[in-house]
Order: sequence, then structure tokens, then C-alpha cells
Amino acid sequence: MVIDTAIVPVAGLGTRLLPLTQAIAKELLPLAGKPTLQYVLEELWLSGVRRTILVTSPAKSTIADCFQQDAALERHLQETGKPELVEQLWSQSPAAAMQLETAIQTEQLGLGHAVAVGESLAAGQPVVVALGDCVIDSPSRGGVVQRMIDLYDQHEADIVIAFESVSPDKVDRFGIADPLSDDSVFQLADLVEKPSPSVAPSNLAVAARYVFSPQIFDALRSTARGKNNEIQLTDAIRQMIHSGARAWGVQLETGERRFDMGNLESYTESFIHFALADPRLREVVKRAGREAGSQRETD
Ligand code: UTP
Repeated sequence: MVIDTAIVPVAGLGTRLLPLTQAIAKELLPLAGKPTLQYVLEELWLSGVRRTILVTSPAKSTIADCFQQDAALERHLQETGKPELVEQLWSQSPAAAMQLETAIQTEQLGLGHAVAVGESLAAGQPVVVALGDCVIDSPSRGGVVQRMIDLYDQHEADIVIAFESVSPDKVDRFGIADPLSDDSVFQLADLVEKPSPSVAPSNLAVAARYVFSPQIFDALRSTARGKNNEIQLTDAIRQMIHSGARAWGVQLETGERRFDMGNLESYTESFIHFALADPRLREVVKRAGREAGSQRETD
């Protein structure tokens, strides 16, 4: 089965990034020269997704506008002798052919609720869910999402989740896999939300990418509000697993890494990673780092 639809929730309040997120959606924060969400859409495009349902909020409804062709700007750049800048616009990205649709989450009732808001546009089909504030940088073209879609198909799975290995002292920050084997692709016995290191079943943390059968929407409907009065996606996944759903995990490969804009530390680390990967910025970042280091030594 071809899975060509993704739900990308971008409606969160981003309170950990205030006051920044009063002015700019965290999903639009720059990573080197591009907004975060552009990386997400390009990653999905390369994995075969052709239609993306952006779950936005009334306050963030303009996010989708950043991914429209701007004919007036293109004309201006052509007429003022800057055709090379046209090359850098969203309209020139291969992913610009992505069909973008918007669903509005009117109340921020959590990630599970945001996914449920995409249900009617998903129209009974299996979907990829990709968090709009996380990028998976991958050296391979289709990346982890393509491997997840292939696995979903081959094993007639109901749930496939990407996992990243984290250091044991960080397991209490993430949903953690209870895997049935040590393989890089494994069946999932359970998910444990933010376990303490002493009881964690593994150090494999959920990495912002999922593939779901349409059953996820039934599970979300019967999921009660949990922590913070929110509908937690993890609770719906666990409900499905406990009712016998076929759940698989796929580990990120060597060279693949998840970047998270959710807090200032991880955003700063992400920005530096992408700036160092950009030939236009690499030397600037290195020089600024050296100068800041020597300035501190003289302070
Ligand atoms: P987070 O778990 O980081 O939550 O969302 P948040 O509410 O945005 O941020 P904080 O905790 O207040 O700082 C992960 C992804 O899910 C989306 C977010 O926009 C982000 O891309 N999300 C989260 C929604 O779309 N709706 C929600 O109700 C919650």
C-alpha cells in the first residue's frame, strides 16, 4: 500500500520558547537559511509523501502561507536582476509540488488531539505523522520515514514508530520503547512515558515520526485526557498495543539524527548543526565560536 499522506501538527503553544514564540511559530524558526518546517516537508517529500495536512491553530493559521508560490516576489527578483535568489525560494524546492491542506485545532489539547483534528482530511487512509518542530537529518534520500512506510507495508503493521538511542540519563524526558529484540527494526511490546533510568526498558526514545493505520483515530477518540489535561498520543498508541495492534519500531541509522526546536538549548544546537553543514555559514560559525571563546578567556 502506498502511503502518501502526512499529518504534521504545528498548532502547539511553544511555551518553552517564550517570548520567542509570541512573535514566531517554532516550526518556522530558521535553521541556517530555511524555516524548520521546510526541512520537514522536504524530508516527507523524499520519503514519498505527496499530501500534507498541516494542523494549525487560529493564531498560527498563516504558517501555510509561507509555502505558497509568491509570483510578485519572483517577478521583482527577475526584474531587478537577482534571478539567483529565485532559485532559493520555496517554489523551486522539489517539495513545492506537495499538496498542502490545513486543519485547525481550535484548542491546544495536546499532540493526540492535534492528530485527531486531521482525521477527516485523512479520509480513512493510513498516515505518516511528523512533528512540525522536529527535523530528522539523514544521509539517505528517503530517510527513516521511507523505511517506516516500507515496514508498515511488509509486515501489515498498525503502528510504526521511529526511535533514537539516547544516553540512559535522558530516558526520563521521552517516550521509551519496550522492544522485543535488540535489532534495528523490532516489534514493540509497549511504550513507557518518561521512565526513570532505573526502570526504563531500553534507551530508545520516540523520534518524532510515526506511521499509523486509520485505527489510531478510533483509539484517540476513546483516549481520556491525561497529563496536563491533554490527549496524549502515547496513551492512544498504548491502548492500540494492549488491544493487539501490530507495532514496530525502527531505529535511526548511523548518520541520522533528530533535531528538536522544542526548547532553546535543543534549538540552538540544531541551528549550529545546520549552519555548520551549510558551506556559506561554516566558516562564520567556526570563527564566531573561536572569537567568543577567546573573548571569554580575557573576561
Ligand atoms: P510539543 O510537545 O513540543 O508541545 O509539540 P507545544 O505545546 O508545542 O510546546 P510547549 O510544551 O508548550 O513548549 C510537538 C509538536 O506538536 C504540535 C506542536 O506545534 C509541535 O510541532 N502540537 C502540540 C499541536 O499541534 N497541538 C498541541 O495541542 C500540542
